[in-house]
Amino acid sequence: MGNLSKHDMNIQPQPFLSDSFGRIVNNLRISVTDRCNFRCRYCMPEDGMIWLDKGELLTFEEITRLVRIFAELGVTKIRLTGGEPLMRKKLHVLIAQIAHVPGINDIALTTNGFFLADQAVDLVNAGLKRINVSMDSLDPATFSSMVRRDYLHKVREGLDVIEKLPIRPIKINVVLIRGINDGEIETFAHLARTKPFIIRFIEFMPIGADDGWTIEKVVPTREIIDRINVVGHSLVPIEYHGTQPADRYRFDDGIGEIGFISSVSEPFCSSCNRVRITSDGKLRTCLFSLHETDLKALVRGGVGDEEISDVIVNAVWKKEEGHLINRPGFVRPERTMSQIGG
Ligand code: GTP
Ligand code: 5AD
Ligand code: SF4
Repeated sequence: MGNLSKHDMNIQPQPFLSDSFGRIVNNLRISVTDRCNFRCRYCMPEDGMIWLDKGELLTFEEITRLVRIFAELGVTKIRLTGGEPLMRKKLHVLIAQIAHVPGINDIALTTNGFFLADQAVDLVNAGLKRINVSMDSLDPATFSSMVRRDYLHKVREGLDVIEKLPIRPIKINVVLIRGINDGEIETFAHLARTKPFIIRFIEFMPIGADDGWTIEKVVPTREIIDRINVVGHSLVPIEYHGTQPADRYRFDDGIGEIGFISSVSEPFCSSCNRVRITSDGKLRTCLFSLHETDLKALVRGGVGDEEISDVIVNAVWKKEEGHLINRPGFVRPERTMSQIGG
């Protein structure tokens, strides 16, 4: 027998969701809309986005059915993403439905924060457990230039509201781009020390169309840690044995937490536990997948739960080993981050 890969050998998947590299998938990210009221430069072009028709989006009932099937396969965590998920009307209704699915014990949201002040109470009452808010700059002009909208005040207003609600942790995502917002590392570190927020610095990734990505624009985690240490607050690694993309640090004098998502310089692919469903119902087993599995076609084609479950198990089994950013052979997915769901 020649050198067969695990895929060739027809190894039967386990009853839980696992892939051929031994990773267990228990974390499902669901994009509820591809639309967004921001135009972050690293995410989508200013003009020319073609949005999905409403009828192409999975309905709340279809999403909940899929969540139930995934939960029976061992998924426990759901994260709702977009586009901007709060542009989907009555998202709290979907959250309440998902919260009732047996086996789901964690429902989180990744949002740009614009609608939070209006919707946060309903979301938390419906069962939202955790929230990640994108805020790339604390300076209104830099913020506007990064997201192409003058909305920093709305995001801060939203943060003020959730700070008072029983929802923790509150994570703030900061995509650092050299020459644009990397001058604010120390200011964000200060925010992490004074507010109940976990600030997470995210390395800029090449995804989607024309985002101007070059390796020089990525600010590697090592450089950020060195800069924070220099201003007199030493960062101490937090021992953590779960699966998550961020390496976590606290300050040596106690207050605050900072995380680093080093997708480019130190990818977390080998411990990745997640898959995604796009808003039009395609299963993607990696952010950088070049292949999708059409779950919506099955859901709308009258296919039963068991058969859908088998399709999911087989797709997850073929989850990619990892991405090849900045290495030979890397191919960008055609879809933008907003279409995939971050
Ligand atoms: P928690 O750890 O549960 O808080 O979630 P998260 O950090 O995965 O959620 P969030 O949506 O805030 O994602 C933060 C960033 O992590 C995103 O902006 C991406 O840059 C990165 N990220 C999330 N999922 C993946 C992934 O599958 N692969 C890679 N390379 N990066 C990812
Ligand atoms: N690189 C890194 N993070 C990105 N995000 C969007 N595009 C990129 C990119 N090119 C982040 C957003 C948000 C999450 C959904 O994805 O900042 O926090
Ligand atoms: Fe909208 Fe999020 Fe993309 Fe920014 S990163 S344009 S907030 S979907």
